[in-house]
Amino acid sequence: MAEMRVEIAGLEFPNPILPGAGPLVDNGLKLAAVAAGGAGGLVTRTVTVAPATAPPRHAEIRGGVLNTPRWSELPLSQWLEIEYPRARAAADAAGIPLIVSIGYTAEEVAYLAPRVAPFADAFELSMMHGEPGLLTDPVTEGELVHRQPVSTWTRGPSPVLDAIRAIKPATDKPLIVKVNPLGSSEMGALAREIEAAGADAITATNAFGPVTALDVESGRFLLDTPDGHAWLSGAALKPLALRCVFDIARSVSIPVIGAGGITKTEDAVEYLMAGASAVEITTGALKTGAAFYGRFAGRLSNWLDAHGYASVAEIQGLGIRRWESLQPHRDSVPVLYDIDECIGCELCELSCHYDAIYMVPGKNKVGGDLVAEFNADRCFGCGLCVVRCPTDALLMPMLQRDGIYLHPKTLQPAKPGSGSIETPTR
Ligand SMILES: Cc1cc2nc3c(=O)[nH]c(=O)nc-3n(C[C@H](O)[C@H](O)[C@H](O)COP(=O)(O)O)c2cc1C
Ligand code: SF4
Ligand code: SF4
Repeated sequence: MAEMRVEIAGLEFPNPILPGAGPLVDNGLKLAAVAAGGAGGLVTRTVTVAPATAPPRHAEIRGGVLNTPRWSELPLSQWLEIEYPRARAAADAAGIPLIVSIGYTAEEVAYLAPRVAPFADAFELSMMHGEPGLLTDPVTEGELVHRQPVSTWTRGPSPVLDAIRAIKPATDKPLIVKVNPLGSSEMGALAREIEAAGADAITATNAFGPVTALDVESGRFLLDTPDGHAWLSGAALKPLALRCVFDIARSVSIPVIGAGGITKTEDAVEYLMAGASAVEITTGALKTGAAFYGRFAGRLSNWLDAHGYASVAEIQGLGIRRWESLQPHRDSVPVLYDIDECIGCELCELSCHYDAIYMVPGKNKVGGDLVAEFNADRCFGCGLCVVRCPTDALLMPMLQRDGIYLHPKTLQPAKPGSGSIETPTR
């Protein structure tokens, strides 16, 4: 069985599947259920000096969930007296680390860190880049005032860097900084600033926003926030968050925890291959509950076994290493076509707008009378047919830095345009 243990910032996790800060970890009993459910570690709901006042709302859209979460609705005093002690006991019983999520300003986290530190194995610093339509008056806790929104990238990284510098002297526990996804290529540079400010690891990413969606029957915005805005989490977030992880992992030497849109085993594998050391899952577990995490870890273990990997470590960063060994796609190169895999579905003919692949009479793999004929001279490798082909009949060759083309599945040398260019029986 594959070795599932991972190490992040000096902490050992029995498996790399963690909950993300969210509804499944927003009190001590729920955290205990997630620990008992087999998660590799615990991450608590974000707490700041005062409880969130507006209740969170959610709405399902295709590929994701719109939400308006802020942070824990429970007061700090309740976390300190009841919820953190319960979570600590559950983490100890399960033998897993407890990561305590706090936010948001330098002033707030400097106040929180020493109070929360006795319960925490590590901190996760959460950040906000504006709050979707839930602006209220500043809330106060003693002499501290929580002013919102606390922006990060939209106002530059200074508030986050200030918060990191405020936590570090207050505790010797590792600090994980959770970043919001950026739709620009600055993620690596920002991660370097976070590392230089003293972070021990980075979680990428939080939900993305603001976004919106409408209900076409009533014409209202799905989440009736004052500005119609919400955040996006779930599957639709994955390509953006995964790119952030890839950019960050190549830019810093501290570990990265991937988060965003993980719903199935292969999603987690992608994150690990893109450079993550572990993953956090929130929306993917909303409908199944605390037992989700252990089951997910079991499926990942099976996946590693089935693919011949001895450990999580073996796939960690594999995508980066592969990317470094390949040449970027610059030339027009025909795809690989294997007529023996063709089932005659005609999808490639419909997708090819260059007349490079078309149906002709001939026996196909499933005994039908149509088969695709490929004209490599007309194909320039746009990949539209590869996207549509339901079998491995059409594949995109990979070009290594040494100039050798590889078959993307077997990783054996392959000749673009080949596979079968013979004319089938008419
Ligand atoms: C309902 C809800 C509440 C959340 N609350 C928090 C929070 O308190 N602190 C935080 O850092 N992230 C919070 N998140 C963000 C998640 O932890 C996670 O980073 C994000 O949703 C992307 O992962 P996912 O696609 O697996 O949900 C919340 C997300 C949701 C959906
Ligand atoms: S890769 Fe593009 S040009 Fe080539 S056969 Fe497919 S769709 Fe046509
Ligand atoms: S899409 Fe693939 S399986 Fe379908 S006809 Fe084309 S080559 Fe054959």
